Amino acid sequence: MTGVRIAPSILSANFAELGRDIAAVERGGADLIHVDVMDGRFVPNITIGPPVVRAIKGIATRPLDVHLMIEEPDRFVDDFVNAGAAMLSVHVEAVRHLHRTIALIKSRGVKAGAVLNPSTPVSALEEIAADLDFVLVMSVNPGFGGQTFIPHSLDKIRRVREMLDRAGSSAPIEVDGGIDAANAAKVVAAGASILVAGHAIFDTPDAEAATRALRAAVCSACGSHA
Ligand code: DX5
Ligand code: ZN
Repeated sequence: MTGVRIAPSILSANFAELGRDIAAVERGGADLIHVDVMDGRFVPNITIGPPVVRAIKGIATRPLDVHLMIEEPDRFVDDFVNAGAAMLSVHVEAVRHLHRTIALIKSRGVKAGAVLNPSTPVSALEEIAADLDFVLVMSVNPGFGGQTFIPHSLDKIRRVREMLDRAGSSAPIEVDGGIDAANAAKVVAAGASILVAGHAIFDTPDAEAATRALRAAVCSACGSHA
């Protein structure tokens, strides 16, 4: 579907074969590579840091969408920008001065996104809506791949879209967590246009085919959102 981007999350890829797995999803039509950075403090899991992002940048042909699930993200913005992030998102719950953090990211020439945990109200972004390059709605609690999509997220995506529209913003909404071919069209119909998927793509025998299948599933919504 026109305008919808598929962002495979490498969290569920084989970390010893990242080059192979990223090439597969790129052949399958991935638009972005979603990179989950976790610090063991903001979320109960640890993943990767700037050196690995830099290595991925060296082999990926699609822009890197770096999702920071870390405390004090301001301290690491430059490291991830220099490592090659094209999009950088921070959790509203992890920053004290969100306006400052978003401005910092944008000043480095990178798209700045704010992320809402499932329990964080849409209103947390009300005053900053017009400044955001994108909003990431978590449809699971962050920390792990392979969790189940929280159904209430659909209504939340609609309300984020309304809030952005009210602010005169056409910023896209990204959705992350439990996305698969069965719910992708609903998520798009609700107003999301960047779909992150880890388990549904990499925990399959063929990540290339799974990427294509996700895109095909989204196209069932083409009639209403082409
Ligand atoms: C969760 C991460 C997600 C995760 C999504 O904390 O932010 O990006 O990889 O994985 P799935 O699609 O398996 O829910
Ligand atoms: Zn993510």
